Amino acid sequence: MKNYDAIVLGAGAAGLMCAAVAGQRGKRVLVIDHAEKAGKKILISGGGRCNFTNTGTAPDRFLSANPHFARSALARYTPADFLGLVERHGIAWHEKTLGQLFCDGSARQIVAMLLDECDKGAVDFAFGRPVGAVDHADGRFRIGDAHAPALVIATGGPSIPKMGASGFAYDLARHFGLKVVEPRPALVPLTLGGDDPFRALAGVATGVVARAGKAAFRGAMLFTHRGLSGPAVLQVSSYWRHGEPIVVDLLPGRDEGWLRDAKRATPRASVGKLLAGAVPQRLGEALTGALGLSGELANLPDAKLAAAERALAEWRFLPSGSEGFAKAEVTVGGISTAELSSQTMEAKKVPGLYVVGEAVDVTGWLGGYNFQWAWASGWAAAQAL
Ligand code: FDA
Repeated sequence: MKNYDAIVLGAGAAGLMCAAVAGQRGKRVLVIDHAEKAGKKILISGGGRCNFTNTGTAPDRFLSANPHFARSALARYTPADFLGLVERHGIAWHEKTLGQLFCDGSARQIVAMLLDECDKGAVDFAFGRPVGAVDHADGRFRIGDAHAPALVIATGGPSIPKMGASGFAYDLARHFGLKVVEPRPALVPLTLGGDDPFRALAGVATGVVARAGKAAFRGAMLFTHRGLSGPAVLQVSSYWRHGEPIVVDLLPGRDEGWLRDAKRATPRASVGKLLAGAVPQRLGEALTGALGLSGELANLPDAKLAAAERALAEWRFLPSGSEGFAKAEVTVGGISTAELSSQTMEAKKVPGLYVVGEAVDVTGWLGGYNFQWAWASGWAAAQAL
């Protein structure tokens, strides 16, 4: 039997951070992963450049049944802390937009950095090891021939199963009597029904404000062969519930009465011509057809133009579903925060059991927030191991 201070399950973002920090605090740490190598999701993140944090990180950019849960960890390990680590490793980076920080080079640099930090902490690794049963007796957790008084669940969520993602964290949590908030795919493209005319616009992108419930995001929306995608739609997908519409302002920033004003200024123009100048041509044509407003503006009553303005500002798409975990960037829901200490990530009723990263019911917006949660929660647990 090999004796450790902590066994970390999962060599992803949260598990590597947790193991490195605990190792450097003098703890003997073993990381077990069923994959052959570390950080597979980091490697494909941010289009291969890893959007590793967001300078705008704040608790209100995360979804959770308890919106306050993430506050403590996020305050104690900040984007500046992670950036400091990136800079100490000489990794060049840039800010894209909206506080999103990316590597100039490759996401491989982030994985190499985390493995180097683990090396400094003399962390042991066991790759290609599917975890079967976890025995827990006399205050110790046993997996195969390793045992420790602490076990960290860092196996992530079920998004992108073909990359080795699994619902294992939830199975393990339930095994230990912890509640799981229903997991749903998030940051995921939404689908439209087969007969929806907008599916014919695949490839067209336009700037919008998309809303689901009270959440609203400005950004690009992309029509796909199956429905809707693009940053604004991915963001609202995390808030969207089956059966609800998403409401899209197709011409954000227009003053009320802009169509009526256009009628006064250019009475011979058509709605189609105006839309053609404001959105991509194919979308303009589809909207003109759907609004049923043909002919010159001069011949259209103001009331009809006002109704068209409202329709364009609050276009309702009724998604038939989402593209599911196969295409979801993250998972909303997960191991209930009510079961965990927000200071240490330790399970309240199972001393020595910790949960970090995406496995926890904390989900960030698109834009580097999910990695920041992985770093912060992994760091918080490492202080307590
Ligand atoms: P993560 O999934 O990273 O790691 C879990 C580890 O556990 C994996 O190594 C896996 O092999 C292992 N594991 C799973 N089941 C196991 C089992 N049964 N036994 C043993 N090991 C097991 N976020 C962001 O902030 N910026 C970005 O740019 C992106 N980009 C991005 C792109 C794509 C395509 C995806 C799918 C996701 C992103 N994300 C992102 C989200 C981000 O990747 C995600 O939030 C973190 O990787 C979560 O970190 P974790 O360590 O919790 O899980």
